[in-house]
Amino acid sequence: MAAFHRRFLWLLGVTLLLADVNSTENAFYIAGVVEYRPTIMGGTSEQLLEANLAGYLEIMASGNGTTDIIVFPEATLNSVITLTVVPKSTEQSLCDEQVGDDPEIATFLRSLACAAREYSTYLVVNVKEQVAEHCTADETCSSSGYSIHNTNVVFDRRGAVISRYRKWNLYLEPSTNRTESPEIATFTTDFNVTFGHFICFDMLFYTPAQDLVEQLGIRHVIVTKMFNSELPFLTASQFQQGWAWANRVNLLASGASLPQGGISGSGIYASQQGALARLMIADELEGQRKLLLARVPLDPDEPIATDEILESERTTPVKLKLLQQPELKNFATWELPKVQGSSVDKRICQEDLCCEFRATWTLVGTQQEYNYRLGVWVGQRRYEEEQYSAIRLCGLFACTGSTVESCGLISEEQEHLQEHQVVFTKLQILGEFVQRPRRLLMPSTLSSSSLYALQPSQLTWSMKESVNVTRIKMELLEPHGQLMTFAIYGNYFDEYANGGAERLGTGTQLFLLITPLIMKHLFWE
Ligand SMILES: *[C@@H]1O[C@H](CO)[C@@H](O)[C@H](O)[C@H]1NC(C)=O
Ligand SMILES: *[C@@H]1O[C@H](CO)[C@@H](O)[C@H](O)[C@H]1NC(C)=O
Ligand SMILES: *[C@@H]1O[C@H](CO)[C@@H](O)[C@H](O)[C@H]1NC(C)=O
Ligand SMILES: *[C@@H]1O[C@H](CO)[C@@H](O)[C@H](O)[C@H]1NC(C)=O
Repeated sequence: MAAFHRRFLWLLGVTLLLADVNSTENAFYIAGVVEYRPTIMGGTSEQLLEANLAGYLEIMASGNGTTDIIVFPEATLNSVITLTVVPKSTEQSLCDEQVGDDPEIATFLRSLACAAREYSTYLVVNVKEQVAEHCTADETCSSSGYSIHNTNVVFDRRGAVISRYRKWNLYLEPSTNRTESPEIATFTTDFNVTFGHFICFDMLFYTPAQDLVEQLGIRHVIVTKMFNSELPFLTASQFQQGWAWANRVNLLASGASLPQGGISGSGIYASQQGALARLMIADELEGQRKLLLARVPLDPDEPIATDEILESERTTPVKLKLLQQPELKNFATWELPKVQGSSVDKRICQEDLCCEFRATWTLVGTQQEYNYRLGVWVGQRRYEEEQYSAIRLCGLFACTGSTVESCGLISEEQEHLQEHQVVFTKLQILGEFVQRPRRLLMPSTLSSSSLYALQPSQLTWSMKESVNVTRIKMELLEPHGQLMTFAIYGNYFDEYANGGAERLGTGTQLFLLITPLIMKHLFWE
């Protein structure tokens, strides 16, 4: 029974240890997030469901009951052919057949309830949910008599349902329905943590993600994902880490693993203390099934001794299919000259955003892998289906050639990473971002060798409110020779809502999640 963990010894710093021995601040819970490669072919819908359920149970078994909470990703279990009813909550375990007497509660959901009980862990899974429509004569009802939702279900340690959330920000999910109004889903555990949870695309919008953090004060967030990474600012783990940092929350992110479709990325992030565990499958097409574990501090603000996470440097080419920021050509940019031992001090502005860059670098080798540009952008990006975000960003990013269109691409020549670098010995960005009530300003950093964000020991970030702007200062703390991105990324949630969408509806780039057509093809047929 893994209940409440106070592993003081885990903190090796002895002085810290003595100082804090009687406080509850050094308390942890053990979280598991699963990077999961779904079985998507080679059987009927029922067989695929059975195969994925077996995979889930195998991963749960591999945890040996050590987790307090375990999270599985979006859309990797059942399909629109194998729907289940999901009760809003149950008094007792769904593992007991008589509980929740609805015959439409699928047996796979009961099996998962039994697994939660067996391993005595909170469990979060994402399913395709069937919801009976109660139609009156004057309402139009769909012929099937039910609607379908993309739904997170949370079980407690006994297997009782304690929370349910239906996705609000659907992304190209034509067979999926939206609730009439957004749901705000939270649950409190026996280790005294209240979690909020949502699904994938939700993370790019204010409701319900920022509602949880800003209105309810939630400090522990769970997201189930099937996320298609985009360079240079929105690859999966990079975005997760930046989001947790900017919101000062712990984030448990579980991602589907389908690198051939551009999808991978899971992690456990402790507020501004960086990643405790993370996984991006970059160098293979097949994907993985892996349980990532970490001790997560109950108090996200409590400084912790983060062990250096061991991440092998990638030695083979990136095979993960990555999207590219669709609006790059509209950025105001300046290319860094490839001159040995150079320094620049440069101010770049676009519309209401000005950023000042200070950089010093040296060249290693003769033919450097990447060129670099400094850039500023204020604009609106479109995802699909009238979904927009107003973005203000500035930063440094890598390019494979000398045009801005070549930025946000992975270099083909990857065998000689070490020998052909631009090493930044100093890099500082000062940005002046306009104030708005609803916005999120986050660090967006990425190493080209690992496709992970920089850890907190590698940079500083500070925010200062001024008369009418927020001044952000971001600085590299140690020389870095494999930078892909070093930027400040601002999501301004309100601007698209006020008709701004018309102003800048230029890019129609496919983005985030493989299209449901592919999904449908892969999963359900
Ligand atoms: C579970 O037990 C097996 C066998 O003892 C061990 O190899 C594995 O590391 C354990 N897993 C965890 C998460 O403790
Ligand atoms: C659910 O979505 C389907 C497909 O778009 C639609 O036909 C149906 O009317 C929707 N049901 C509800 C209750 O909105
Ligand atoms: C539970 O957490 C709240 C705040 O998050 C705190 O005020 C309270 O003392 C905690 N209770 C226990 C039993 O630790
Ligand atoms: C901020 O206020 C100053 C002084 O009132 C003004 O000159 C400047 O244009 C304002 N900047 C923005 C971004 O609104």
